[in-house]
Amino acid sequence: MDNKNERGFSSNIGAIIAAAGGAVGLGNIWRFPYVVGQNGGAAFLLMYVLFILLLGIPVMLSEIIIGRRSQRNLVGAFRTLAPKHKAWMGVGVLGLIVAFIIYSFYSVVAGWTLNYIVLSCNGQLMGKNPAEITQMFSSFTQSSFWPLLYQIVFIGITATVVILGVKKGIEKSTTILMPLLLLLIIVMCIRSISLPGAEKGIKFLFKADFSKLNADSFLTALGQAFFSLSIGMGALITYGSYIRKEDNLFTTSLCIAGADTLVAILSGIAIFPAVFAFGLNPTSGPSLVYEVLPNVFNSMHCGQLFAIGFFILLAIAALTSTISLLEVVVLWEIEELKWSRRKAAILSSLCIFLIGIGCTLSFGPLQGFKIFDLTIFEFFDQLTAVYLLPIGALLFTIFIGWYLPKTDVYDELSNGGKLKVRYFKYYYFIVRYIAPIALLIVIITNIIFD
Ligand code: TRP
Repeated sequence: MDNKNERGFSSNIGAIIAAAGGAVGLGNIWRFPYVVGQNGGAAFLLMYVLFILLLGIPVMLSEIIIGRRSQRNLVGAFRTLAPKHKAWMGVGVLGLIVAFIIYSFYSVVAGWTLNYIVLSCNGQLMGKNPAEITQMFSSFTQSSFWPLLYQIVFIGITATVVILGVKKGIEKSTTILMPLLLLLIIVMCIRSISLPGAEKGIKFLFKADFSKLNADSFLTALGQAFFSLSIGMGALITYGSYIRKEDNLFTTSLCIAGADTLVAILSGIAIFPAVFAFGLNPTSGPSLVYEVLPNVFNSMHCGQLFAIGFFILLAIAALTSTISLLEVVVLWEIEELKWSRRKAAILSSLCIFLIGIGCTLSFGPLQGFKIFDLTIFEFFDQLTAVYLLPIGALLFTIFIGWYLPKTDVYDELSNGGKLKVRYFKYYYFIVRYIAPIALLIVIITNIIFD
């Protein structure tokens, strides 16, 4: 069998689904609705989409180029492509650290989804008033034992899939789970927009009111776009290294970004009409889907069924993303440290759980422990979305736009001259000038205003 096919995904569609699975996650269904809610709706959404088109897709393509050209893990990729300048390997190491940080707070919210599947299955979410539902959420997240247990179960499931390998674990599980996710979310959308009073939610999401925007929402939109697309950390360097040499990288990244944006918008359609139809508050923050939606399910016909469906959907989305986070670290350990896949997955998962304990407890016993006025969980979330992902993205675009020879970039995008790449000069202009300058401005503004 062909070497490169042994290494990675078995088809182009397999690669797209696996990478889209990594991108579509809690960022789309849990984080996106609450940041849109807090930032006034449609005008924010518009800015978010603009960031995806102007910066998101070019950065994504840059990461994928680095991965496929080098055929290596995050650190090995830079050693292979910049053998004379070892400092670039530091960019890979930074990406690994970011993967640990994201996974450790992400697994907290991922664990909550399991709790809510259990609660909705045994009917405990039903028949409660809004105050009781809020109370339930806070007493659960403030306790220590159950959130930690669900977190480690989630980390365990992720490790199991990763141990099965790229084709049999990652590609196979995501090709089953992603269509299911799409189906579930479409069902939720139909239910939501058919509720009486749903128009207000649709208006909130699609009728722009620019007076609600400020500099802060600008930065939040960029952070959200990067987090949601899984860019700025190097996750797509690893997945890029699994893409077959004959696949078209440009259309592949368009499909990944398109799927991610579609699911984000669909979850907005699933959530806001329902929020408004029941007179609830769209600005309630990170607890939005856990505190607000149970009220919605409660007052719906067949609500329990929708609740079970929704939390399963959330768990699936989270799982395909935690898989992508763990795989980045595992591939590095396999190739650089020569560990077996099993050893790498188990040891890294344990390490992530150890860091993750701090994030989980920051809702309970460690609530008062603040870093720059933020709990550990909030600090990790902000640190990655607002600083580390844009910094990572800046370094990747500089690497492609200024370090790697232009002919190499062209060669990779055109598959050695086989594909027509008419968009090349626009892409190259963006990664060489627009993206680095825009990202620098963002990073500097963040540092000054925080
Ligand atoms: N994009 C995922 C989400 O929306 C989260 C995620 C997975 C991620 N891998 C990443 C974010 C790498 C940044 C970098 O839920």
